[in-house]
Amino acid sequence: MTAPLHSRITGTGSHLPPRRLSNDDMTAMLAARGIETSDAWIVERTGIRARHFAADGINASDLALQAARHALEAAGRTAADLDLIIVATSTPDMVFPSTAAILQHKLGVAGCAAFDLQAVCSGFVYALSVADAMVRAGSARCALVVGAEVFSRILDFNDRTTCVLFGDGAGAVVLEASETPGILASDLHADGRHVGILCVPGTVSGGQVLGDPLLKMDGQAVFKLAVGVLESAARAVLAKAGRTEEDIDWLIPHQANIRIMNGTAKKLKLPSDKLVVTVDEHGNTSAASVPLALDVAVRSGRVQRGDTVLLEGVGGGFTWGAVLLDF
Ligand code: ACO
Repeated sequence: MTAPLHSRITGTGSHLPPRRLSNDDMTAMLAARGIETSDAWIVERTGIRARHFAADGINASDLALQAARHALEAAGRTAADLDLIIVATSTPDMVFPSTAAILQHKLGVAGCAAFDLQAVCSGFVYALSVADAMVRAGSARCALVVGAEVFSRILDFNDRTTCVLFGDGAGAVVLEASETPGILASDLHADGRHVGILCVPGTVSGGQVLGDPLLKMDGQAVFKLAVGVLESAARAVLAKAGRTEEDIDWLIPHQANIRIMNGTAKKLKLPSDKLVVTVDEHGNTSAASVPLALDVAVRSGRVQRGDTVLLEGVGGGFTWGAVLLDF
């Protein structure tokens, strides 16, 4: 069997847990702890108006399962067609086995390759790039690529500078071998010198959690780095694909902060109506944010077959990357 030339997204899906917390709900929740925040502060600094939190007992694999079912249905596939499952997550169900293996079992199948990929908020872009390479190498023909997070589990609700920013959710795509593109190019990077600006520093050892198991972030340091790397990754992936900014129909960056997203669109000279925004309703769902936003844009009829879409991730590591594709 000869390896296919390309991989192509054939279906998208997403899922948000039903519990929606508006900024006013967060303000009331923090007030009960003696911590002050407000809808006005959160909207002005981040663009976030609401986020969804999973109920107790609902794990990343449960959110992933719903998103995966929607993506498989959209692709006209069943789980039995899959020969690869990659789950990008920083909030796995367990230390091990992988959330991908748990998801595979919940999908009712066995045997295909399944693994997790950890690149925090860049996770989905990394996972899509890896799946594309595996499909083009001939080692998979029908891949499920998922970003799934329950960030509410690792938030410090005594830290107003971080806990108002994040939410839970999952997004998924089915990526298949194709004669036509598909994924045009990808560009991935990491710089471990910046481990400390965005991390959950705790670990499990000797039957105990050692260190702090809650999210820590230097917001201003992250902001400055994110604006620069999102522009450079966009330019690099366009150059690899032999395309220009004018070819982009939709920019779907990691949904962390509307100011970072608008800044990236501006640097690429893209009008704001080409920017897909879900951070207002989802908050920052880390590895789930890009596939969630893609699915919302597809199902609302904005992203159409043949459109050129630039996906961008940035997050802890520090990691960043971009995937350019013809949908
Ligand atoms: N409500 C009210 N006031 C607040 C809150 C809050 N929730 N949080 C902070 N403040 C206060 C601070 O205490 C500070 O008060 P002070 O001036 O009296 O000291 C003031 O607001 C300003 O704080 P800054 O941290 O300077 O606010 P900034 O404008 O930098 O915004 C933010 C903070 C929103 C976190 C911003 O830095 C940011 O978006 N950074 C990027 C974060 C990001 O994108 N993270 C995700 C990327 S990677 C990933 O997704 C995992």
